[in-house]
Amino acid sequence: MTNPSNSAVKFGTFKIGDDIEINRLGYGAMQITGKGIWGSPADPEEAIRTLKRVPELGINFIDTADSYGPDISEWLIKDALHPYAKGLVIATKGGLTRSGPDIWQPVGRPEYLIQQVHKSLRNLGVEQIDLWQLHRIDPKVPADEQFDAIKSMIGDKLIRNAGLSEVSVPDIKAASKFFDVVTVQNRYNLIDRTNESVLDYCTEQGIGFIPWFPLAAGDLARPGSLLDAIAAKYGATPSQIALSWVLKRSPVMLPIPGTSKVTHLEQNVATANIVLSDADFAALDSEGLKAFEAAA
Ligand SMILES: NC(=O)c1ccc[n+]([C@@H]2O[C@H](COP(=O)([O-])OP(=O)(O)OC[C@H]3O[C@@H](n4cnc5c(N)ncnc54)[C@H](OP(=O)(O)O)[C@@H]3O)[C@@H](O)[C@H]2O)c1
Repeated sequence: MTNPSNSAVKFGTFKIGDDIEINRLGYGAMQITGKGIWGSPADPEEAIRTLKRVPELGINFIDTADSYGPDISEWLIKDALHPYAKGLVIATKGGLTRSGPDIWQPVGRPEYLIQQVHKSLRNLGVEQIDLWQLHRIDPKVPADEQFDAIKSMIGDKLIRNAGLSEVSVPDIKAASKFFDVVTVQNRYNLIDRTNESVLDYCTEQGIGFIPWFPLAAGDLARPGSLLDAIAAKYGATPSQIALSWVLKRSPVMLPIPGTSKVTHLEQNVATANIVLSDADFAALDSEGLKAFEAAA
């Protein structure tokens, strides 16, 4: 049952492509695997409980990938939530191979990308993937061949919408010649501002920007810091304030904080009750930029 005081509905909505509307806070399903994003999670029952709690909390956007586990994350999503509630969007990704814990190698050959989409369809138990994202552009394969494979999968109705991950503005422009790029998933948080220009481009173009690792605040979260003081003022945790800051940064921002625990999921959704003032946003913005520039 959704408790209205703790519901992702409060984050407002964003439209992906022509016809998919999601609440602006999603769930990242990478943490429900083993160490090194390899194998089964340490506590499979808690992983299933966490997944079941996702729609109960009003979250209707889950991000996963064939490479999380590999396969484990997609299997657990199906085990916990299939048949899927109407309106629940499960986005997955392909294009990274796994040969051990923490090992990720891109493979962008068209036949491989198409094979992996067929596998994700089976893993998730769906006939079409609402949003499929190219996990990485493989530098060993011409980018146009990878984009053309995505175009063909949209034409064949295997996938409904497509996005990219860890890309530059020129990459987005190049892919847009083949298909509408509806989302971009790049690392972004208060203290990692590498992708500011990509975010600005997505904001201008109305492309959904999915920041991964959105909760990070590094040293900014230390006791006695500005973030710590602002968190205390709002009766919130530093992670919740870091997430509020990310959400306020752009209307196209679609964070997908990842967790393997029900309590953390509930805490992340409760961020919806925080209304960060413009002054606090600006103060955090400047501290985050300073920390980023100092680390560069
Ligand atoms: N496109 C890409 O290349 C890429 C790369 C990495 C991730 N992703 C996606 O982005 C999602 C989010 O990224 P992420 O998982 O790396 O980073 P994140 O969501 O910023 O942080 C996840 C970490 O924070 C902990 N956590 C979550 N909520 C918490 C809370 N309320 N209090 C304390 N700790 C909390 C989690 O541990 P617990 O499990 O203990 O809660 C986990 O260690 C992933 O799930 C995945 O879907 C994409």
